[in-house]
Amino acid sequence: MGQVHSRAYSRLLHHFPDAPLLPRLVAVADTDPARRAQAMQAYGFAAAVDDWQALVAQDDVEVVSVAGPNFVHRDVAVAAAQAGKHIWVEKPVGRHLADTTDVAEAVREAGVASAVGFNYRNAPAVDLARQLVCEGRLGRVESVTVRLLSDYAAHPDAMLSWRFDPALAGTGAIGDLACHGLDLATHVVGGQAGQISEVVADLATFIPHRPQPLDPTAPRSTILAGGPTGPVGNDDQVGALLRFAGGARGVLMASRVAVGEQCTYGIEVHGDRGALAWDFRRMGELRTALDQGYTDVGWRRVQVAPGHGELGAFQPGAGVAMGYDDLKVVEAERLIRSIAEGRPIGATLDDALRTAETADALARSAAERRWVSL
Ligand SMILES: NC(=O)c1ccc[n+]([C@@H]2O[C@H](COP(=O)([O-])OP(=O)(O)OC[C@H]3O[C@@H](n4cnc5c(N)ncnc54)[C@H](O)[C@@H]3O)[C@@H](O)[C@H]2O)c1
Repeated sequence: MGQVHSRAYSRLLHHFPDAPLLPRLVAVADTDPARRAQAMQAYGFAAAVDDWQALVAQDDVEVVSVAGPNFVHRDVAVAAAQAGKHIWVEKPVGRHLADTTDVAEAVREAGVASAVGFNYRNAPAVDLARQLVCEGRLGRVESVTVRLLSDYAAHPDAMLSWRFDPALAGTGAIGDLACHGLDLATHVVGGQAGQISEVVADLATFIPHRPQPLDPTAPRSTILAGGPTGPVGNDDQVGALLRFAGGARGVLMASRVAVGEQCTYGIEVHGDRGALAWDFRRMGELRTALDQGYTDVGWRRVQVAPGHGELGAFQPGAGVAMGYDDLKVVEAERLIRSIAEGRPIGATLDDALRTAETADALARSAAERRWVSL
């Protein structure tokens, strides 16, 4: 994700020529020397260090992207905020609620701007979905379904990386995948009505042991067979029922071991007068069932066009696709503008904290086998 953030800063002016500030890639911190070399050669960073504390102490660093594994988020983000740097932190912002709370408090106390990697809310079709719900076009929102299905850990010999260790990652599918869905649901339903008020969840770990890593920096889905194995300490899958403050009910399913699914990330919202559905794999489309009767309602496929969200900054017309990296350029632009204008724009640490509270409630609900209120 450090590479994705770096590309986003570099491309900011290509897409937003009127951006109020021009990012310059000053320094990168990575414990892996090959990654440091790549950051300088391919991305043009002026300097690379192995210790992030040196980077946070630099006077000429004004914004810090926190894109390491979950176990480094808290310390880096808190130190950066306390040093007066604005921060862009990857989800889930730490391993657990305590980490996220510390970062949110540091941001609040320092008065710095923050952004969080809930990139799916930056898709123009998601902007349109939120707008339609907000305008009441669906009527009273009754049900919200979010699905975050991936096969990245489906192979039983996929290496035991930091993601499977609760001491390093916190939760599994909850923090890695479900948190995106919680943010999407809250963002699209919007306002107080979109706040999640109660949850009941069920977790499963289907692959309890995985091969020990030989090279801890190997990509996450590296396949290793034969060697010693170690325990998987967090959830492969989470299923949950959600209750929203506005009365809507939700269903969430997230899995990292879903054979046949790659980036099956999406949301469906049904109201008493209409419905909508969005799937990340067809990012530029929003399916809608609006302005009709109650039964036998037909669906329409809307291609987002310039004027919907930030599509116009990337493509000249409807039907020309944006990609994943573009969502991060939007995220960078919202952060830069929030720094320049001194007000929150886009997902912030407050959103991350709300999501972390819900993620924590999901884990507690599953452990205690009961509904948990937020
Ligand atoms: N928003 C999204 O869509 C999205 C997608 C993937 C990952 N993420 C998040 O991004 C974060 C990173 O995930 P990833 O897939 O890039 O992980 P990764 O394991 O591929 O990369 C982590 C990088 O951090 C470096 N690192 C490890 N310890 C460090 C330390 N103490 N100091 C400095 N560098 C250190 C590693 O050498 C490596 O280069 C995670 O929190 C993950 O949840 C978000």
